[in-house]
Amino acid sequence: MDNASLSRKTPQASELAADEIPEAVRDHTYLDAGGSQSQKKKGLIWKLLGLGAVAFAVSIWLHLNFNFFPATSRAEPTQKNPAAASSASATAPNPGSNSKATPDNLLGHLPYAEAPATDLVNVTSDGGVKLRTSAAAKYQEMANAAAASGIYFAPISGFRSVDDQQHVFFDVKAERRQNASKRAEVSAPPGYSEHHTGYAIDLGDGSAPDTNLSPSFENTQAFKWLEANSATFSFEMSFPKNNRQGVSYEPWHWRFVGDRQSLETFYKAHSLKK
Ligand code: DAL
Ligand code: ZN
Repeated sequence: MDNASLSRKTPQASELAADEIPEAVRDHTYLDAGGSQSQKKKGLIWKLLGLGAVAFAVSIWLHLNFNFFPATSRAEPTQKNPAAASSASATAPNPGSNSKATPDNLLGHLPYAEAPATDLVNVTSDGGVKLRTSAAAKYQEMANAAAASGIYFAPISGFRSVDDQQHVFFDVKAERRQNASKRAEVSAPPGYSEHHTGYAIDLGDGSAPDTNLSPSFENTQAFKWLEANSATFSFEMSFPKNNRQGVSYEPWHWRFVGDRQSLETFYKAHSLKK
């Protein structure tokens, strides 16, 4: 008997009326088929629910431990930074709103300890600008390299004590009749300036003093040289445009990150939430 004849003589269960099926088969075959399908469905639903619960628990854990799912609305448009809501600057906080406040940031600025006086050395001959020994040595190397190309930096401000910054922040704030948020856009509150560390320096271009402490410093030869060469000497701009701290663009303010202590000072000890 060939297969075709066999299948003609043996109708499939689905072709039979229910009462043509032996009772034992009726009781089990169809019921089993239907029962196992519904059990499979139930099993699948439980598995999906289980997976969902695990995914939910993992996402909560990631959020609590790593802020893995940051709010997208931290940066709000401000007068200073109207583009803050654009995707390019969406991570920049607005110091005025302190919307990115962490336990250690104040109006977008991070706390820094004063450098020990014993580690401060002169960068200018009159002693008006000082840096920590390691930063001063590298700064001098950098300034010499720039001078070899005919570019002369004008050091404006290096180490500042907390008392110095008290004046810079509060007295100038009063003179200008600024509120704290507005003042914090351009000046760190005392205790929160990178200048306390002795690793930060404000630089001007000796041949363009009118650009000192102005965004127009970015048009000087000194700035262009710094942009191209500062990394060789382990200096970097602290407050580029749309920086995460929300501080105004300061093309003149550079910090040294060329040894373990300076690197940790700026990248480890304090952090802004991402
Ligand atoms: N101008 C910078 C933010 C300072 O005051 O440290
Ligand atoms: Zn500065």
